[in-house]
Amino acid sequence: MTEAILLVGGKGTRLRPLTVHTPKPMVPAAGVPFLTHQLARARAAGIEHIVLATSYLAEVFEPYFGDGSALGLHLEYVTEEEPLGTGGAIRNVASKLHSAPDDPVLIFNGDILTGLDIEALVGTHRTTGADVSLHLTRVEDPRAFGLVPTDADGRVTAFLEKPQTPEEIVTDQINAGAYVFNRSVIDSIPAGRPVSVERETFPGLLASGAHLQGMVDSTYWLDLGTPQAFVRGSADLVLGRAPSPAVPGRCGDRLILDSADVAPDAKVTGGSVIGAGARVEPGARVDGSTVLDGAVIEAGADVRDSLIGAGAHVGARTVLAGAVIGDGARIGADNELRDGVRVWCGAVLPDGAVRFSSDQ
Ligand code: GDD
Ligand code: MG
Repeated sequence: MTEAILLVGGKGTRLRPLTVHTPKPMVPAAGVPFLTHQLARARAAGIEHIVLATSYLAEVFEPYFGDGSALGLHLEYVTEEEPLGTGGAIRNVASKLHSAPDDPVLIFNGDILTGLDIEALVGTHRTTGADVSLHLTRVEDPRAFGLVPTDADGRVTAFLEKPQTPEEIVTDQINAGAYVFNRSVIDSIPAGRPVSVERETFPGLLASGAHLQGMVDSTYWLDLGTPQAFVRGSADLVLGRAPSPAVPGRCGDRLILDSADVAPDAKVTGGSVIGAGARVEPGARVDGSTVLDGAVIEAGADVRDSLIGAGAHVGARTVLAGAVIGDGARIGADNELRDGVRVWCGAVLPDGAVRFSSDQ
């Protein structure tokens, strides 16, 4: 198999404000736009031609990745005028594919960090003779995903996207967001209108007797759709827990990009990334966090499991835990922000304005 489709047109709503200026796949993880990791892993598995299905903020992908030759790939871009949903996006790029009707085409969601053995998924597809093969993973709480029960042979028996009732939670196996489709199945998706591959195409294929095969594994898997997951995924890439050939530098406790300025007594740990031109001042601690380009962490600040947007400032002695600070925001000194707080791009918080605990 040599071709893939990458779905990168979603609005990234759950990641806002990080996705106000940047589409989700272009938000940096371990120092490079997240998409780079997926492209590099696909290339390493032998994929040569990838079509990006874009919609939201479509214009930023091509100037960055160009024709893909820097990654050893041939990249093409197709932009939807109106979002066509996951299935519509797949159908909309079909004319760019070179594959014959019976050839397998890899398709994947643009926000998944995984150690999936792509060649094993293609192998499963070939040996079972399936029309579509799906990578499945097990999660504790499957409600935010597509549930995919299988029979004893791994054949998919149902597809239940985002189950609403307890009765619908029939398995802990979920759609992990990577598929192998026979080219002819892609061509059978209706063109020119929105289609959800999860809500329409998969249930429809099952109803018509098509063979959908599941491949469950227990490799690293994370959907980077929320700020907490995004920060976790970036740290896991830096720590080497999540595999990617595209991490710029050696894996370890931290990744400090060129031209970042980190004070000698600042502590940067837990897979944190300090972006280009960013500054971490004396006595500051940054743990399990992503500090994007040009951001400043002032003296004595304590930043954990947080994402600091490009050019944002975190004031002296301010404590952040599980926070997202939008691009260019300025958090004054002696604040305390916790537990999923999102500060919007460019917002300004005065010194000592917000605390979760007593200041004494
Ligand atoms: N081109 C295009 N157009 N891409 C889209 C569109 C669209 O209209 N809508 C969504 N996408 C892309 C997103 O950018 C993302 O890469 C992928 O399709 C999946 O969309 P998400 O919005 O991230 O979906 P999800 O995380 O709620 O659920 C999906 O992923 C789960 C695994 O993480 C589903 O496929 C679930 O079944 C699955 O379990
Ligand atoms: Mg997702």
